[in-house]
Amino acid sequence: MIISVEGADGTGKSSVAGYIKDRLQEMGREVLLVREPGSTGLGERIRLLLLRDESINICPKAELFLYLSARAQLVEELILPALKAGKIVVMDRYVDSTLVYQGAVMGLGVDKVLRVLVEFFGSVFPTFTVVLDSDVEDILARLEAREKDKVESRGVHFLEKVIQAYRDLVEVFPERMLLVDSRRPLEEVCEEVWQEVKKRL
Ligand code: TYD
Repeated sequence: MIISVEGADGTGKSSVAGYIKDRLQEMGREVLLVREPGSTGLGERIRLLLLRDESINICPKAELFLYLSARAQLVEELILPALKAGKIVVMDRYVDSTLVYQGAVMGLGVDKVLRVLVEFFGSVFPTFTVVLDSDVEDILARLEAREKDKVESRGVHFLEKVIQAYRDLVEVFPERMLLVDSRRPLEEVCEEVWQEVKKRL
């Protein structure tokens, strides 16, 4: 089982993913928690290039393949072995981030990106995906408190598109994806997500 947590930056994905992991472990389940891009040696290097290095120019197609390189390594090195060992994999971002950011917002095309994803990662698609929904004002207020990375510095219009693209995606995959309003106390959001995960175990 692969559970992914998605949403725009600053919606609390990492906290929610961590909460799911803790609750699953309390139930005695073995869990692998990973974040994308990252979690492997190659992935963390690529993460630095994509999110921190201001000195290089990366065009949208190059960006797509960097995210996919990081993912390929993650699947090979950590996800497949974890699934084989019977663990539940909890992911802080995964394939839907690529559909939203590169496919919809950067304009490479959701259908086109989906075809590539299905071709190379179709056997390890998420079983259940939570999308933490919010609005621009709420997200900007939360992001204000922390240092922004390259993606988070792309501005309000970019953020609006990300939020809308996630909403659209949930309509395309209503069985796999669930939209959860994150504009509430974190404990409440975590608990709602946990109840939804439990139903699907
Ligand atoms: P994230 O780890 O959520 O950043 P933060 O910890 O600062 O919230 O995600 C990093 C960024 O990577 C995020 O802005 C979205 C972007 N991203 C893509 O554009 N495509 C992808 O396929 C993935 C996995 C992430």
